Amino acid sequence: MAECFIFDAVRSPRGRGKKDGSLHEVTALELATQSLQAIRDRNTLDTAELDDVIMGCVDPVGEQGADIARDAPGEPLFVQARVRSLAGAPIAGAEVDIWQADDDGLYDVQRPELGNTRRARALMRTDREGFVRFRTIAPTAYPVPTDGPVGQMLMATGRHPWRPAHIHFMIRATGFAPLITHIFVDGDKYLDSDVVFGVRSSLIGNFVRHAAGTAPDGTKMTQPFHVLQQDFVLAPDAVQDY
Ligand SMILES: [Fe+2]
Repeated sequence: MAECFIFDAVRSPRGRGKKDGSLHEVTALELATQSLQAIRDRNTLDTAELDDVIMGCVDPVGEQGADIARDAPGEPLFVQARVRSLAGAPIAGAEVDIWQADDDGLYDVQRPELGNTRRARALMRTDREGFVRFRTIAPTAYPVPTDGPVGQMLMATGRHPWRPAHIHFMIRATGFAPLITHIFVDGDKYLDSDVVFGVRSSLIGNFVRHAAGTAPDGTKMTQPFHVLQQDFVLAPDAVQDY
């Protein structure tokens, strides 16, 4: 009899990971069972004919060109980022994790009113030419929390708590060392005094502000918008050098 492979994916129920969360009585086995039953029903499978089941968990990957801001406040920003090797070759299929603060200087996780809703963040994958393209909002500078020992230390050393505006990126690709970095907005007044000393000249991005008009993705914008084109270079995975 001919063999066949069935590839499918379903989304499991979601809930907050705490003791009294809505799913706290559901065991991992039950979650897995529900997922397999959903795949059985969707494909009208006779499970008696199955030999092996291989299953795992994945993070959802965002669409190229998506608006990752999802209603976060701020001026629109269009980003085109390219991931390359040291030799300059584009890296296809690289995982690009993006997160940033909104126009009020807050991350989504700092807004209790959002509940489990996430915004101004995404996980994307580079295309065949190494690009990820997305729409978001221009980040703004924000102060780190000062209600603990960090605040006392800053006060004692006479330093301000501000970080210049930036977008975080974490990039991973097979055969390359992971890159965790951020890109800062050129001209931010805190570039020379970042409270956590994270700024390097190579990390300052060329954010260009445009008047209302046509955005890089063809959208007719009735308000000013920003454009950032940014290259990232991944070093080879050191382990593979030995
Ligand atoms: Fe940050």
